[in-house]
Amino acid sequence: MDVVITPDPASAAVAAADIVEEYVRPGPMTLGLATGSTPVATYRELIRRHREAALSFARVRAFLLDEYLGLTPDDEESYHRTIRREFTESIDIPDDEVFGPDGTSSDPDRAARLYDEAIRSAGGVDLQLLGIGSNGHIGFNEPGTPLDGRTHSATLHRQTVSDNARFFGGSTSAVPVHVLTQGLGTIRDARALLLIATGEAKAEAVAAMIEGPADPSCPASVLQLHAHATVILDEAAASRLGPH
Ligand code: GLP
Repeated sequence: MDVVITPDPASAAVAAADIVEEYVRPGPMTLGLATGSTPVATYRELIRRHREAALSFARVRAFLLDEYLGLTPDDEESYHRTIRREFTESIDIPDDEVFGPDGTSSDPDRAARLYDEAIRSAGGVDLQLLGIGSNGHIGFNEPGTPLDGRTHSATLHRQTVSDNARFFGGSTSAVPVHVLTQGLGTIRDARALLLIATGEAKAEAVAAMIEGPADPSCPASVLQLHAHATVILDEAAASRLGPH
């Protein structure tokens, strides 16, 4: 695992955008997208490069990591809508090349299987962006999730519901607790992983991911098992790492 420590969140976003650009510039490629607030600064930097430095996403296909079950794609807080608002509607990726798990399906297990098949038939993900939850989750793979699982439905832990309540007017009861998420095995199939973490609230999870055992107690520790994983941190997120 390559660990890059940058002074602040803005520098972390530039470092992450540099890596995404390396993959996107030569195209065609398949990009795995993450939601959550952390990657937003990276998306803004990529939008800036699209506008000012002719970085084109016209030959990019994108797959989302996860989705809430029960929100329609037009619900402002669905991840489908969020990624459009935060990123894809401001670049030149074709709308119909952005895929996500079907959170409206009445058969989530089938929707999960179809999603894995769609990723496989697209030739897999070249570069997967990731954030990390304060309890070490990636995508919506909560602690205890097997390290080799495929896309599946899951129930959010109380910590994640409370962390995400800020997107639902601060109300924990408004956060959908059932989700579809790429499994840790699905995520590991990506040819390269790029995780961004900023802020003190992530410091403990970051230390467990990098220095703890690679096991389901910290789902993000699965990055230790990947041959091409890069972690970009700011100093606050790196603050609980031991001396090297
Ligand atoms: C959600 C998403 C994750 C994301 C996490 C952290 O649970 N499913 O993909 O990494 O939130 O989000 P944030 O970056 O807002 O702290």
